[in-house]
Formats: sequence, structure tokens, C-alpha cells
Amino acid sequence: MTTPALMDIELLVHGHSCLDVHINHDDTPTNDLQYRIQSMVINGGGMAANAAIAASRLGLRTGFSGRLGIDPFSQYQMDEFHENGVNTELVVQQDYIPSLFLALNHSNGQSEYSWYQTPHTPMVSDPLTCQPSLILLDGEYFNVAIALIETAREQNIPVILDACFLSDRRLALIPKVDMVIASHDFVREYMQSEDWHAGLRQLTQHCAKTIITLDSQGCLWHWQGEEGAMGSWPVDCVDGLGAGDAFHGAFCAGLLRGYAFYDNLRFASAAGALCCTREGSRAGLPDMSTIKQFMASHPEPGITSV
Ligand SMILES: Nc1ncnc2c1ncn2[C@@H]1O[C@H](COP(=O)(O)OP(=O)(O)O)[C@@H](O)[C@H]1O
Ligand SMILES: [Mg+2]
Repeated sequence: MTTPALMDIELLVHGHSCLDVHINHDDTPTNDLQYRIQSMVINGGGMAANAAIAASRLGLRTGFSGRLGIDPFSQYQMDEFHENGVNTELVVQQDYIPSLFLALNHSNGQSEYSWYQTPHTPMVSDPLTCQPSLILLDGEYFNVAIALIETAREQNIPVILDACFLSDRRLALIPKVDMVIASHDFVREYMQSEDWHAGLRQLTQHCAKTIITLDSQGCLWHWQGEEGAMGSWPVDCVDGLGAGDAFHGAFCAGLLRGYAFYDNLRFASAAGALCCTREGSRAGLPDMSTIKQFMASHPEPGITSV
């Protein structure tokens, strides 16, 4: 895939990148409590990084900005960006222990997750040396996120926040961005309940264009005064990890290609659903012909207004 020049980027995605290691192991230990690994998938991961790859596979000229180390794990992530045509000129590489996400999948279908994240030290970077038409942030590196939002406002560039996990910093970003796509995990923690509609009302007080993604239940939105809900595309889910990131990347692609709102929700949901059909957060991310073929050959999810 060809990587766009920095000045040709349409979408800038800023935030988290890490290495994902997915391990499927046998649940019966050997005598000395060792478990045999049946299969293993290693890929780059992280909310913003996955979304950048998702958007680029769908043909959007995409750049990623975030922080990586100078070690082999970070190089692996950089290589994957380049294989997928993502511009990385805004990545800051420094002597920094990279983040790691470990998924331990048991044969009974349960998964355990562990992750390592370097304690927060502010990332410093030049706020905006390109001219994207859209910015997607996952709330990582708050100082850079704030600087990007300010510059974006001056230049009339819309900003989407992926409200993936609850933190005070992400909450502070919500009123400053143009659109919020929140995960069910974020809303559950924010509301201390699973009342998604109440969560939507609450978030909408701070941002008039808000979507909540609800796993296989689809999504819910308030978009400039209109509210509605949509189910999901039928797929056999192998691994749901990264579905939200796929949704965000595809939603950005649809937005920049001028899709009508409902068409874009269907498109982004199809990307989320396809992501679930393969193990790991990247193998199932579709290109344009795959997603179009999938959407044409499956019953589309219904939309209800709320
Ligand atoms: N099991 C699934 N079957 C079909 N679509 C799914 C499934 N899981 C997720 N999706 C689609 O992907 C979108 C984002 O996924 P979600 O699970 O909400 O994100 P997250 O990665 O935050 O858990 C959903 O709104 C839905 O459209
Ligand atoms: Mg999910």
C-alpha cells in the first residue's frame, strides 16, 4: 500500500499504540502447572493505532501520531503502520518502554487481559504540521490532544473523540470536540449502570453529536437533535477485540467520503462486525471491496428512532 505524504493526509489519528499478544491455551495444566499454548497471534494494537489502520485499509489517506519506543516491539508496530499505508512522520520515538496488551484466551471461551502502560509523562510534539480534513483522538497524551483540538478549531477541522475508557481527562475533552463515539465500557463506568439511554442523554449535554457502541447489540446515537438505535450485522464472532476501533476508523472514512449519517452507521458497524470474525484486532479489518461485498450479501441491521 502506498503511504501518503504528510501534507496529503485526510485523517489524522492521535493516541495509543501498543503490541497485542493473543494467546490461546489449553486449560489442563501439565504436572508442574505449565499450560501448553495452542495458538498465538501477535499484532500491533491500541485504540488510535487500530483505527488508523482500519481507515487506511478503507482507502483513506491516514496519518498516525503518538509515542513509540526505539525497541523491537515498537519497530514491529511501525512496520505494520507502513505495510498498511499509514504515515508515521508525526510519531515521536524516544527511549520509552512500549505498551503491551496480553490476551489470555481459555478453551472455555473466557478471556483474561493484562496490559502494561508506561506511567503518564506528557508527550511533547508539534501540534499540527499537516492539514487533515478530520482528526480522531482517543484521549491519550492529553496535552497534545488539547493542542490539536485548539488548532483544529482555528482551522475548522472537525474532531472526533473515541471515549474508550473513563478517565477525568477524557471527560474533560468531551465538551471540546465535535463528535463523541463512546464505548459501552465507558458509559457503564460513567453512569455506574447499564442505562445506555440515560448515558446518551448525559453525554449529549456536553456534545450534540454522540454515538454509543454496544457490542453485538449495535449502537445508539443522538445526532443534532435526532436519536435512534441500530442493531448489528450478523457474524460469527471469533474475537470482539478492536471492533470499536474498526467502527471509529470506518466512521471517519464514511464521513470524509460524504456518506449520509445512516449509511455511515451501517458502514462503520459492518467494519466492527467484520473485525470480530478473526482473532486479534487487525486481521479482520476489511478493505473497501470486502466490506461492500459483505454489506451486499447480508441482511442490514434495522434502525429505530428513539
Ligand atoms: N459480536 C458482534 N457482532 C456484530 N457486530 C458487532 C459485534 N461486536 C461489535 N460489533 C459492531 O462493532 C461496533 C463496535 O463494537 P463494540 O463492541 O461496541 O466496541 P468495543 O471495541 O468498544 O467493545 C458495534 O457497535 C457493532 O456495530
Ligand atoms: Mg466489544
